[in-house]
Amino acid sequence: MAATAAMAGRLWWKHGVIYQIYPRSFMDSNGDGIGDLDGIRQRLDHLSFLGVDGIWISPCFPSPMKDFGYDVSDYCDIDPMFGDLASFDRLLAEAHARDIKVILDWVPNHTSDQHAWFLESRRSVKDPKRDWYVWRDPKLDGSPPNNWQAIFGGSAWEWDTETGQYYLHSFLTEQPDLNWRNPDVEAAMHDVLHFWLKRGVDGFRIDVIHKIAKDPELRDNPLHENGLPGYLGQIHVNDEDHPDVHGMLRSIRRVFDRYPERMTVGEVALSHPDPAVTASYLGKGDELDLAFNFSFMLGPWTAADYRREIDQFLGLIPAGCWPDWVLSNHDFARHASRHDHPELGEKRARVAAALMLTLRGTPFLYYGEEIGMRDGVIPEDRMQDPLAWTIHPKLSRDPERTPMQWAGGAGAGFSDGEPWLPIADGHDQRNVETQRWDPGSMLHLYRDLIALRRATPALEGGSFDWVDSDTDVLAWKRRAPGSRALVALNLGEAPASARLPEARVTGGLHTAHGSPLPARSGTVELQPCEGLVLVVED
Ligand code: NOJ
Ligand code: CA
Repeated sequence: MAATAAMAGRLWWKHGVIYQIYPRSFMDSNGDGIGDLDGIRQRLDHLSFLGVDGIWISPCFPSPMKDFGYDVSDYCDIDPMFGDLASFDRLLAEAHARDIKVILDWVPNHTSDQHAWFLESRRSVKDPKRDWYVWRDPKLDGSPPNNWQAIFGGSAWEWDTETGQYYLHSFLTEQPDLNWRNPDVEAAMHDVLHFWLKRGVDGFRIDVIHKIAKDPELRDNPLHENGLPGYLGQIHVNDEDHPDVHGMLRSIRRVFDRYPERMTVGEVALSHPDPAVTASYLGKGDELDLAFNFSFMLGPWTAADYRREIDQFLGLIPAGCWPDWVLSNHDFARHASRHDHPELGEKRARVAAALMLTLRGTPFLYYGEEIGMRDGVIPEDRMQDPLAWTIHPKLSRDPERTPMQWAGGAGAGFSDGEPWLPIADGHDQRNVETQRWDPGSMLHLYRDLIALRRATPALEGGSFDWVDSDTDVLAWKRRAPGSRALVALNLGEAPASARLPEARVTGGLHTAHGSPLPARSGTVELQPCEGLVLVVED
């Protein structure tokens, strides 16, 4: 009954769970050491077993791979390294047959410098595509037009000797920024969305959406009082989060509104993070469907920090809009590594899973977190991420991008060849094959949590209210018509308790596998880094 009630009015991206796949690292089907679309298709069984509602595939379009796909040279095709349009269609059809939605990654701020548009644009100042990118004359002394910095290091302006002008690039020099103030660019980028939406794609993750509109006069940014060099040393009033971005987003939204149940989730990765600005990208329900909330990625492992971030973000979500939660992605150290601890690391990762999957809002899982994957240790001579040399090896994002650990042995079940990045240590123990047969494993915890969430309307879409508890405990109640759930998570290193409302317990789970559930809720005692999710009588 409850499950049927949950299905009625269920919106996959709102009530479901979305799983990010970094395609280079998920599954290699042809032994070249790089993951591909056929590989993802071969592993759909795993995603069905886990129970996720949708996958987001990081860019798989033709690309010179200077920034591993975030430098797109053709938005309407698949890079041969990953397959072709036919392999994409097969993946989409087989995912849909299993009720798994597929979202792609749209990179509107910049293309690759090898994109046909840019090759034309750089031919001459008179070229019809010149204005598709941001070209400017040098200052009188020959220096760049303003003080803007590239996020990946150095000036945001690259000199073009042939045509005697600078072009703007917010990231690598090989990633020139599109000029979104040119209506032809806007129309061409909308056409890209139509191309994939017509093909049946269920939505898009949108890369650095806060960057697409900039000050039309290209004025200098003021310097930040932190005195830092480079990008972080400026206040980005002129090259980030320009007010005109909202009109552009409303037009993007109108494209999606022509296709039922398609969604957008946007990355608002501000240089000086501010959840209020992130939430403003939801507009009045007429801009993004979801705006990535990265606040968990930046804080320490304390209940007080999580409580503050949760309160703040829930409080900022405009009426009729929906929150979301992210613990890990392809740009940050994995949370199991960030919060690792000699005795409690594994237990913390289990509590984190319970937190992500029982909060009000859409959880974004990052491939491998369901088996508790840690970051790999990458020797400098195997580093791939351009940040390792444009800024510093410490900033390399390779550690969180290591191959998925399907099994023990040389290629970890990921590849028969030499993987593009080394497999992380410990994969002989920590892998899908081993965990699949162990009901106490991280994999089963994720699977059980996802199943519980799906069967419990209160967890999928219900209200959220805090419950009083000890300082190190996060406790909340969720409620939907005919459905009630209580959650208590001890993030601390000592036993602690939560005073949950009294009710008969009808289901739920304990993050410590094998620990019994109480017959009734009320005051519950929790060991260090343990959590309880209780479904109770309404
Ligand atoms: C954000 C993406 O998540 C990151 O991986 C990429 O390098 C930049 N945007 C540039 O596209
Ligand atoms: Ca391959």
